[in-house]
Amino acid sequence: MPLLIQNGRIVTASDAYTADIYCEDETITRIGRNLPAPPGAALIDAAGKYVFPGFIDPHVHIYLPFMGTYAKDTYESASRAALVGGTTTLIEMACPARNDEPLAAFELWKSKANGNSFCDFTFHMGATRYDSLAESQLKEIVAAGISSFKVFLAYKGAFGVDDAELFQVMRLAKSLGVIVTAHCENADAIALRQKELLAAGKTGPEWHEPSRPESVEALGVNHLSRFAAMHDTHCYIVHTSCEPAVREALEARARGAHVWIETLIQYLTLDKTYAELGDFQGSKFVMSPPLRDKRNQPFLWHNLANGNISTVATDHAPFDFKGQKEMGREDFTKIPNGIPSLEDRISVLYTAGVKSGKIDLHRFVDCASAQAARLFGLYPRKGTIQAGSDADLVIFDPNYRGVITAETQHMAVDYNPFEGMPIEGRAETVTVRGQVAVRNGNFVATEHRGRFLQREPNHF
Ligand code: URP
Ligand code: ZN
Ligand code: ZN
Repeated sequence: MPLLIQNGRIVTASDAYTADIYCEDETITRIGRNLPAPPGAALIDAAGKYVFPGFIDPHVHIYLPFMGTYAKDTYESASRAALVGGTTTLIEMACPARNDEPLAAFELWKSKANGNSFCDFTFHMGATRYDSLAESQLKEIVAAGISSFKVFLAYKGAFGVDDAELFQVMRLAKSLGVIVTAHCENADAIALRQKELLAAGKTGPEWHEPSRPESVEALGVNHLSRFAAMHDTHCYIVHTSCEPAVREALEARARGAHVWIETLIQYLTLDKTYAELGDFQGSKFVMSPPLRDKRNQPFLWHNLANGNISTVATDHAPFDFKGQKEMGREDFTKIPNGIPSLEDRISVLYTAGVKSGKIDLHRFVDCASAQAARLFGLYPRKGTIQAGSDADLVIFDPNYRGVITAETQHMAVDYNPFEGMPIEGRAETVTVRGQVAVRNGNFVATEHRGRFLQREPNHF
């Protein structure tokens, strides 16, 4: 059924104006003042509300075998949580183990999503090994519609690549026109520090951050960006947590490297004192790179506001406190790494960023939607509001007031890292390609309409 959204304040990365939006056959077909309502069209009154392009989370984990367990969400629960929070497109990290074949892994990750997702999705393909088989299969995967790889410098033995592999992934990516997303931490330094801390009896979650300090991340960013520069490859540093790491990336960019920076909503609003909470509660806040000293936050916000940091993602990686985080009670290196946050990114970013005056509305849309669409080959199908774009729209109520709690969340995990945080503003109505999936904050979709988004390489 066609949909007419009336009198909303349309805000994109570049424009703000009041108009109606008409959606037919999954796309936006007209934008203008006082558009006639065709017979049979559904009407939504958006007066007093913002209308944003559907938000894109460019870094999530849904199917994730990791550290002896599996992340908790399925596409069913994750896409529901995403939509309730205003996120209409997911870019998941497909993370095969080193002895898995890339093509089989790609099919496996896709099979978890196909037919089970309420919103659209695509993948960054993990390049977790490099040999002739991996090379030919990665080429096939790009031909099948993937235009970004993922490499890990950390997690040696699980996903991490060595320097010879990194060199070849960068060379292949350049030849295919693919951007390489990267987890940047020096794995050897981490392994040695972990060993020393454990030997000294420092076993609690509060020692996770000291085991992988800011310098370890900065070193990783330097390493990665120099390998990328050798081949002139475009790269994207995921989950950048601190000033030294951002500075390394900016210095690489100043040298002429094609480097983009992602930070996370967790780093902007939480800090390492959360991982120091007693009674093992700190384990809920163990992720890598770790939550940092609060002094980093003004620097991150400043560089987000000026566009040096392109995107705000979640790195959603949900592990229950009971039974999963608890695996590391005697040894922090065994705590599954990850902080769930998919559902709350937009409300928290709006509250902590826009309402507090740290970023303006355009930067909000840019860093949470448009930039990811541009960098990963989805723009202007996603990431903006214009005729021809997919009708993924968020009607956002800036006057909503609420408090985040796990009791009402849709993520399939037993805690919420933002528990008790007051929020100002939320996604009230959300559409997926022209059909309402969330109404008045309630999930109402009944069909798994989410589609795999094929992307073209060489879109820079
Ligand atoms: O702690 C994290 N970030 N867990 C998910 C895996 C990763 O490194 O992205
Ligand atoms: Zn990572
Ligand atoms: Zn991740």
